[in-house]
Amino acid sequence: MSSLGEHYQAIVIGSRGAIGGAFVRGLQLDPRCTKVIGVSRSSVPGLDLQDESSIAQCAQLLKAHAPYALIVDATGALAMAGKGPEKRLGDLNADQLLQAFSINAVGPALVLKHFVDLMPVGAPAIYAKLSARVGSISDNRKGGWYGYRASKAALNMILQSAALECTRLRPQLVLAALQPGTVRSDLSAPFVVAQDAMDPDAAVAGLLTTLNDLSPQRGAQFVDYRGQLIAW
Ligand SMILES: NC(=O)c1ccc[n+]([C@@H]2O[C@H](COP(=O)([O-])OP(=O)(O)OC[C@H]3O[C@@H](n4cnc5c(N)ncnc54)[C@H](OP(=O)(O)O)[C@@H]3O)[C@@H](O)[C@H]2O)c1
Repeated sequence: MSSLGEHYQAIVIGSRGAIGGAFVRGLQLDPRCTKVIGVSRSSVPGLDLQDESSIAQCAQLLKAHAPYALIVDATGALAMAGKGPEKRLGDLNADQLLQAFSINAVGPALVLKHFVDLMPVGAPAIYAKLSARVGSISDNRKGGWYGYRASKAALNMILQSAALECTRLRPQLVLAALQPGTVRSDLSAPFVVAQDAMDPDAAVAGLLTTLNDLSPQRGAQFVDYRGQLIAW
């Protein structure tokens, strides 16, 4: 992560997940990363995306050792309350849709609200949020997965607005919406054959290289683990 300089601290939110855990391992191998803190629902301090006070409290506790030049939010969910993604309009129900927005868009927005204050002002910084290619409206050629797609598209819009706002104070901040590829995890297991999915460590190695190569720009950047830009 040369763009972050010789010494930096990092936070990974969702560190108990497959991709979040791989980010923690990947950053522990980077000699420039002096400290990586994993945050999950069961860590101390920890947070629940659906409880803003837990998010605020966690950020407040970690602020004592700020700044963190790299923050990765690797949280997210595909199945909601035991129900898989909706295939057709007839499958839609309000609870499942609202849950998707709560976990994939509202919670991450509140995490960004509280955690961006922990980032440096006059130095390079990267805020990366795991999104998904299926959140791209222009790339949607198959349909289905209503709640997951729509909540990731909403997330992407939140990241774009946040990038425009946050880079006024932090012009060296990169805000990235990440597509990790199809990765072996609890989230993907019901939908992909394990051997067709990538190992989380390999996906994260690609994502770390991608992040390293991004330069600050006006607005957020939607990129995949091979460094390719994705149309919103
Ligand atoms: N795997 C793929 O193929 C794939 C493809 C495209 C995009 N993505 C995206 O990558 C991200 C990570 O997915 P993954 O595959 O690593 O899935 P995962 O292993 O299921 O991890 C999901 C993480 O989200 C956390 N989380 C869920 N609800 C939460 C809540 N209410 N509060 C706090 N944390 C919560 C989980 O925490 P707990 O450990 O506490 O349950 C877990 O750490 C997601 O945003 C997903 O949409 C994944």
